[in-house]
Amino acid sequence: MKQCQAFRGRVLHFTDNPQHSGEAAYEYWSDGMLLVADGKIHHAGDWNSLASKLPAGTECIEYPHHLLIPGFVDSHIHYPQTEMIAAYGEQLLDWLQRYTFPVEMQFADPDHCAAVARWFLDELLRNGTTTAMVFCTVHPTSVDALFQEAWERRLRLIAGKVLMDRNAPEALLEDAETGYQSSQQLIERWHGVDRLSYAVTPRFAPTSSSEQLALAGKLLKQYPGLYLQTHLSENLAELAWVKDLYPDARHYLDVYAQAGLLGPRSVFAHGIHLCADEWNRLAETDSVLAHCPSSNLFLGSGLFDLQQAQASGVRLGMGTDVGAGTSFSMLQTLADAYKVQQLQGVGLEPLQALYMATLGGARALSLDHLIGSFQPGYEADFTVLDLHATPLIQQRLEYCRELKDLLFVLQTLGDDRCVAATYILGQCLYQRL
Ligand code: GUN
Ligand code: ZN
Repeated sequence: MKQCQAFRGRVLHFTDNPQHSGEAAYEYWSDGMLLVADGKIHHAGDWNSLASKLPAGTECIEYPHHLLIPGFVDSHIHYPQTEMIAAYGEQLLDWLQRYTFPVEMQFADPDHCAAVARWFLDELLRNGTTTAMVFCTVHPTSVDALFQEAWERRLRLIAGKVLMDRNAPEALLEDAETGYQSSQQLIERWHGVDRLSYAVTPRFAPTSSSEQLALAGKLLKQYPGLYLQTHLSENLAELAWVKDLYPDARHYLDVYAQAGLLGPRSVFAHGIHLCADEWNRLAETDSVLAHCPSSNLFLGSGLFDLQQAQASGVRLGMGTDVGAGTSFSMLQTLADAYKVQQLQGVGLEPLQALYMATLGGARALSLDHLIGSFQPGYEADFTVLDLHATPLIQQRLEYCRELKDLLFVLQTLGDDRCVAATYILGQCLYQRL
């Protein structure tokens, strides 16, 4: 074993879904150790039982009032939209026209792409997010910039070029064949390079012809291991439009199904207004939904039916959906997830919520053999949360006796201020001042 690092603090991780395994789904040590060697988890456990067995020369890093968890996984976010987060007053379709498309046009400029990509990845790390599935713009240069920055930091990241061939400003459109070819070039350049993976990215059914969606399906067949990301059933006006544009489809999801876009590596953002057949088709094909509560509240899109998702057995990730979502923080996103369930008279257990933002997210992205947990051999991407981050959090936590209460306070009151440090492959890439 090469140089080891032993991190001391409260340590928590999941090995399974609490919905299925209850208390057996996680391990927690209030005085714990995370032992890291060569960028991988070597061991997680109790400090006192392990400290005397540490290899000579192990560096010890103390986090005395902190909680160490696997890095957050954001399963749906748009990096070009960081500049128009918190744009006032519209619901989805008008919001896209008025704010999103004009901002995305600026990504024809490679310098602009590089500057925003850098800022965006810094912000992910500042929020404790170590892996994300990211929309770029239609411009190939937007993908090059993001992957280049992620590669330099050795991040595990999934991203892709947006495909649009109708119903958007001329400057953001291309014909279906051009979109197919430039996606192909990006796949050849980036897919499988170190920790990077490519996602074929038709924006959503209204901005793609059926020809373009069929070519997206062709790409998925051509390159095994590719992902697909798009939007599904977010807003009622969007649903009506899809019905008009695709009169022969049985429902929204059927538009994607007909193009061969469903499957275990396909991530559909939102899925708020789904019919029974859509839930069944998602489950049968092992397709994934990205739940984006902050975005759904901000755009007034609707309330996600988490109970239905869990009953159907559909895999779920949590997404911030910045810039429709209003925070990069997965803690804030979980706070909103809880409130979205409350509005429907349903609870969301804090352990379940944290699972969804870590191992659940890794499972949603088929990365759960690599990240999302502290099992030996996993990649050492982790986040250090400060339990004294604000006077309010520190004071409130004094009244918490149980882990689940502590987690609920953190997700309800916490945000980027709680992130003391973020580690990628055992290297500290962000440390709060
Ligand atoms: N549907 C199509 N494009 C978008 C987008 O950029 N954000 C959200 N929230 N929904 C979309
Ligand atoms: Zn989105």
